[in-house]
Amino acid sequence: MRNITILLLLFPLLILAQSPNYSEDIAPIIYNKCLQCHNSGGMAPLSLETYADAISNAGMIQHVTSTGEMPPWLPDTLFQHYSYENTLNIDEISTILNWVLNGVPLGDTSLLPPFPSFSSSSNLGQADLEITIPLYSSNASSNSDDYVCFSIPSGLFQDRQVKAIEVIPGNIEIVHHVLVGIDEYGSSSTSITSNCMAPAGDQVYTYAPGSVPIVFPNDSLYKFGIEIPANSNITLGLHYPEGTFGQLDSTKVRFYFYPQNTNVRVINTEYLINEGLPPSPPFFIPPNQITQMSSSYGPIINDMSLMSIFPHMHLLGKDMLCYAVTPTNDTINLIRINNWDFEWQGAYLFKKFLKIPAGSIIYASGSYDNTQSITNPNPVLVQSGLNTQDEMFVFIFQFLDYQQGDENILLENTSISTDFFDFPNTLFNKNLLKITNLLGQKTSEKYNKPLLYIYDDGSVEKKIIVK
Ligand code: HEC
Repeated sequence: MRNITILLLLFPLLILAQSPNYSEDIAPIIYNKCLQCHNSGGMAPLSLETYADAISNAGMIQHVTSTGEMPPWLPDTLFQHYSYENTLNIDEISTILNWVLNGVPLGDTSLLPPFPSFSSSSNLGQADLEITIPLYSSNASSNSDDYVCFSIPSGLFQDRQVKAIEVIPGNIEIVHHVLVGIDEYGSSSTSITSNCMAPAGDQVYTYAPGSVPIVFPNDSLYKFGIEIPANSNITLGLHYPEGTFGQLDSTKVRFYFYPQNTNVRVINTEYLINEGLPPSPPFFIPPNQITQMSSSYGPIINDMSLMSIFPHMHLLGKDMLCYAVTPTNDTINLIRINNWDFEWQGAYLFKKFLKIPAGSIIYASGSYDNTQSITNPNPVLVQSGLNTQDEMFVFIFQFLDYQQGDENILLENTSISTDFFDFPNTLFNKNLLKITNLLGQKTSEKYNKPLLYIYDDGSVEKKIIVK
């Protein structure tokens, strides 16, 4: 006996200028742009998984999307674009507004997109080196965050070249971000008492909720990667937000190596713009004023292929700007952040390697607001340094010497990102919950009728099994 499965094609209904509804218009936005944090086990305080969640928070959703507060994304995308941008476009923002103005209609739930899966398990499989922090109990109070740095020997006796890095948060409800560094001297130490804002060594990867692992570009022509020198320490800087006191975490970072003797183009990580940290002299931010900061680097000696930029200030930071000017006076935009927010810092991977020609100068500027506010009721003189109450002005660059064609290499690993966000069902198993007829009634009929197969991941398939 043979069963033939025919998937029914859904004929588009001709409906004129219909107002947006949840199933077709709003759920796709929330599933793709919000749920990675706003799922019931996620790090955001509010779950937006269901229609009921969305309508009971509709006004607030409309508000935070129209102000640009959510999804949190610092760089100005009118200035430069990056891989894995999580922003809403004008159409999406106005769709949300129209949906709210039209009374938050549900629409036809059989048209809901598949419900995404959020798992903190690995997407890359068995790692070559896995470093886990010792079980840590968050020390964040109800109104202050906890920032800690771990430094853990890699145990490597040979230099190894890394083709991918993945962070597995131990407790996705409390891990706000993870900065991963490599201390090549192996001399740094763990610091869990003094609000450590940045791990020692070269910062090579940044995790925030919804982040995908970094897989360095590799094809038959070139293999890119970073290097972990023998005897180095792996360093991790973790941020646990306020209100997480006493909750436990054991975050891991996993490294995937190239085979020994692979010809790898090694990407450097350097603080090309660095004011205030040794070897540069300290700077000071006087109270009750806005202080401008500027810096530059260069001219650079060789043509550079720039992969990522990590801008960094602490709590008084207000805005940041960085660009390169070439010897022929062209400007290459690198990053502009109009409203710096320490909580949402990250490393930004360009769409493709950016070629910065030899002779270019990199310029950076920014400002600090040390005037009185709710978060800063008694402004005092602030000095540069590593602690929360200090300030920094740093841009970390990941780059290497340019070779012809680098500017065409895509940095966004599309296969991983789509698996992660758009087609989770190909990655995670789903189980059949029930079979219903087209009216949604449970049925035991199986053949020769169109039926809905409803799965535990929220996805629905319409099928006829012809017998
Ligand atoms: C990267 C994680 C992340 C993403 C993505 C994200 N949020 Fe949030 N959201 C948070 C966190 C964390 C908070 C808690 C407040 C804070 O820390 O800023 C929050 C707060 C909120 C709030 C409550 C604001 C308030 O004042 O209480 C709303 C509403 C919200 N988000 C809606 C959304 C919507 C809608 C999206 C998608 C378009 C989205 N968020 C995407 C992390 C996220």
